[in-house]
Amino acid sequence: MAISAIKLENVSFSYPANEGEEHKAVDGVSLEVEEGTFVALVGHNGSGKSTLAKLLNGLLLPTSGRVLVYGVDTADDKKIYDVRSSVGMVFQNPDNQMIATNVEDDIAFGPENLGVPREEIIRRVDWALEKVGMSEFRNATPFKMSGGQKQRLAIAGVLAIRPRVMVLDESTAMLDPKGRDEVMRVVKQLNKEEKMTVVHITHYMDEALDADRLVVMNDGRIVLDGKPEDVFAEHELLTKIKLGVPCVTQLAVTLNKAGMEIDPRITDEEALVEGLCRLL
Ligand SMILES: Nc1ncnc2c1ncn2[C@@H]1O[C@H](COP(=O)(O)OP(=O)(O)OP(=O)(O)O)[C@@H](O)[C@H]1O
Ligand SMILES: [Mg+2]
Repeated sequence: MAISAIKLENVSFSYPANEGEEHKAVDGVSLEVEEGTFVALVGHNGSGKSTLAKLLNGLLLPTSGRVLVYGVDTADDKKIYDVRSSVGMVFQNPDNQMIATNVEDDIAFGPENLGVPREEIIRRVDWALEKVGMSEFRNATPFKMSGGQKQRLAIAGVLAIRPRVMVLDESTAMLDPKGRDEVMRVVKQLNKEEKMTVVHITHYMDEALDADRLVVMNDGRIVLDGKPEDVFAEHELLTKIKLGVPCVTQLAVTLNKAGMEIDPRITDEEALVEGLCRLL
């Protein structure tokens, strides 16, 4: 039977400043994520993605509804430690996530704070460095590294806490294409090899393509939720809420509209090339 990693039951959240107002940052969201799923979460600016992310590990508590992490209610203050260590968060700016002047110390910071014994910390640091492909950087200075390396280091720091779920809030947004690739490769590998549940918030539609599931938010609500190819097929709705589709899908849709026999649901380049070759 599938294990439920995350469950949101009719969750709403208003920031204190906005309380009493109609506007809710998260508005009646219900969502269940099975363990081991790679979920991509997209939505226009201000649609509530970051608020939702913070609700997942108890950084914010719902104004109404419940958030369950492996069955534990995030509002249960006796269990907040479990929730925080189950759901690791990686944020956007790599420079704001570095703590120490040395890579090893930086990764050790999380488990040290949790009172993990010394030998276990050493094991975890080794393991985390290996998982993000940075073993040879163990004595390097974080501040001198590239953006992609810094984000991989941030991921290693989160891994050392041994979370079961990893939430990345636009963690690739400030990186160059190479850095983005590095980070995406690491995260996909963690999902495959460690069966880690991943919630990846991104505004790059191309990064959502090979997720198991794509969730689209607009104005605090979930408006689409399904396999990426099915979600991208909702081209008109996506355009209405100011979201694009991947370049290749956009091209397929345009050609289809122009009367060519091209499947508008195409999400990979090879399929598009094949379709075009067939027409020729
Ligand atoms: N600390 C805050 N206090 C008051 N309102 C806030 C706060 N943070 C966010 N909001 C409001 O809550 C709504 C959702 O914001 P949120 O940051 O969750 O959206 P987002 O989808 O992450 O946007 P972005 O793509 O810009 O990161 C927005 O209307 C925003 O203005
Ligand atoms: Mg955000």
